Amino acid sequence: MKRYPPISSKVPAFLHGADYNPDQWLQYPGVFEEDIRLMKKAKCNVMSVGIFAWTALEPEEGVYRFEWLDRVLDTFAEHGIYAFLATPSGARPAWMSQRYPEVLRVGANRVRNLHGRRHNHCFTSPAYRRHVTRMNTQLAQRYAHHPAVIGWHVSNEYGGGCHCPYCQEAFRSWLKAKYGTLERLNEAWWTAFWSHTYTDWSQLESPAPHGEQETHGLNLDWRRFVTDQTVDFCRHEIAPLRAVRSDLPVTTNFMLAYEGLNYRKFSDLLDVISWDSYPAWHEADDDSDVAAWISLNHDYFRSLKDGRPFMLMESTPSNTNWQPISKLKRPGMHLLSSLQAVAHGSDTVQYFQWRKSRGSSEKFHGAVVDHAGHEHTRVFQDVAQVGEALEKLKDVIGTSVQPEAAIIFDWENRWAVKNAQGPRNQAIKYEETIRAHYRPFWEAGVPMDVIDSESDFSKYKLVVAPMLYMVRPGVGERLERFVENGGTLVATYWSGIVDENDLCFLGGFPGPLRKVLGIWSEEIDSLYDRDSNRVIPKEGGVLPLGSEYRAAELCDLIHLEGAEALAHYGGDFYAGRPALTVNRYGQGKAYYIASRNDASFHADFYSALIREMGIRRTIGTELPPGVTAQLRTDGTTDYVFLMNFSGKEQTVALDGKSYTDVLTGEALPPQVKLGVHGIVIAARPSE
Ligand code: GLA
Ligand code: ZN
Repeated sequence: MKRYPPISSKVPAFLHGADYNPDQWLQYPGVFEEDIRLMKKAKCNVMSVGIFAWTALEPEEGVYRFEWLDRVLDTFAEHGIYAFLATPSGARPAWMSQRYPEVLRVGANRVRNLHGRRHNHCFTSPAYRRHVTRMNTQLAQRYAHHPAVIGWHVSNEYGGGCHCPYCQEAFRSWLKAKYGTLERLNEAWWTAFWSHTYTDWSQLESPAPHGEQETHGLNLDWRRFVTDQTVDFCRHEIAPLRAVRSDLPVTTNFMLAYEGLNYRKFSDLLDVISWDSYPAWHEADDDSDVAAWISLNHDYFRSLKDGRPFMLMESTPSNTNWQPISKLKRPGMHLLSSLQAVAHGSDTVQYFQWRKSRGSSEKFHGAVVDHAGHEHTRVFQDVAQVGEALEKLKDVIGTSVQPEAAIIFDWENRWAVKNAQGPRNQAIKYEETIRAHYRPFWEAGVPMDVIDSESDFSKYKLVVAPMLYMVRPGVGERLERFVENGGTLVATYWSGIVDENDLCFLGGFPGPLRKVLGIWSEEIDSLYDRDSNRVIPKEGGVLPLGSEYRAAELCDLIHLEGAEALAHYGGDFYAGRPALTVNRYGQGKAYYIASRNDASFHADFYSALIREMGIRRTIGTELPPGVTAQLRTDGTTDYVFLMNFSGKEQTVALDGKSYTDVLTGEALPPQVKLGVHGIVIAARPSE
């Protein structure tokens, strides 16, 4: 069992705080002093400072104003408040855009943006990179050794791409480095189709709405390039910081399952992963669906660095102002959703933002300090309550989540499967499918890792790989070895279709997975929304299943090549053909789910599998629907987070072991009551 060091060696406590933008309030005397008083009242110990403060730091080129930041950080240090100091590159000063228009991003339509908004910079532009180096060097030299500074918050939510001439040139170099020759590129992209063969490197361009859009290999490579170029920009940002001091942790904040960047490529560069979570709570009476999706995201971000604790860098203490409907968090939800992050491995709870802006676009976004300006608000009290809870949870810091099961949610696969024109253009539903396969584990309180197909499978007992359409080189072999050595693999329809270039495997699907799965998929049927089929389990099959399930949307027509059928289709011209199979391979088993089935199938199938395989559940008891249990442990003490997202009161019957309520310090009764949005953190000795 592992216990990780705290994110900062200076703060052996949970980090609790917010984005802090005192630069917006410089003309308001007394606000800063009041903020310090309120931070202590709210039990906040960390602020992310300077995120969009470039103009406040450098009002004219080469003219720096650090006095305000000196004062903020010095006062923090006096009061035991710490800072993640930001580099301000998420937005630029107007003077820079005016003097160096090349810093502005060019859209896919090849039109250069005007100054405005944020995240609107070219990540290739030499001028922008120069300014970033200059600014970051100033910040590092002045503050890297400041007693209040415990880490770097690099930029803010990198995202999007730029199509300017610099980026086109960089893309061409990237392609040259990747393919070496145009012949190889043309082959990989299958450009003989529609006579799209490139005969000179200078003909290559990024995809455009008024140009090339349907060469899937190009689309894929462009997305890979955008990730690589953003990582390169991030590395460029970090270099001057590390040059001054190499031991300050560096992070950049990520966004919920953001499709535009393959975040995995950042993991080696960053010391700690952080992300910004803004779920739309209370859209339904029962929040389980949203909650399971947020849990999946926490698991994904934790898995980016192999289980190391991450940071919940932003969340709102009440509502956002950018969702279609900005509903307030109901009483209890703030504590529950904050500690949900902790349950999945976060060692921080942080917000956007500390004090509500007075004007501009985020003036109605939830914040710790309201426009009213004092602590006597519901939201402020909710935040203070989280602060108190985090103090009581201090022993949880650095503990780990050690799942025995993982689900593959692979970004390159995601890009490819959604880009392909295929059996269901209406919506191929990759993310929904991942959610559907994750959900039964969440309901059963089974901790999960969310990995990609490059990850190490050997530490798991079970790997679930829904819709693994793209199988990159080596992945099939590694999955084979995993099963051979005793692992269990679950794969589904629409897997093993293309290689890393989106070129179809020849000789039969699921290509490199065919041997381990012991099947051949000859065709896939796509159904209209009014259609369905039936999946009928074989009586006495290896897993106890119900008598019938509903299949819809996608039904794979497969042949057995060594696998055993566990269910067959009940209708249509393929009635009687296998719909669920298992292949015994080496010491392990590989299941194939041939059709897109309803939730009751996933619930039954995975709970049977969890039972059969003896996969570790957080607690050995039946959990009521909408209640999950997640585990953090250091090998001596287990912390069981019982969380009720069902929208109703629930009772959990504990499993006979003795538990202490970490928040109250009292022994827990055998029946634990969870209120609406209730959470109980129960500690027990580890086994
Ligand atoms: C993002 C940004 C913040 C703020 C919040 C609002 O996460 O990083 O600056 O705009 O959204 O929810
Ligand atoms: Zn550019």
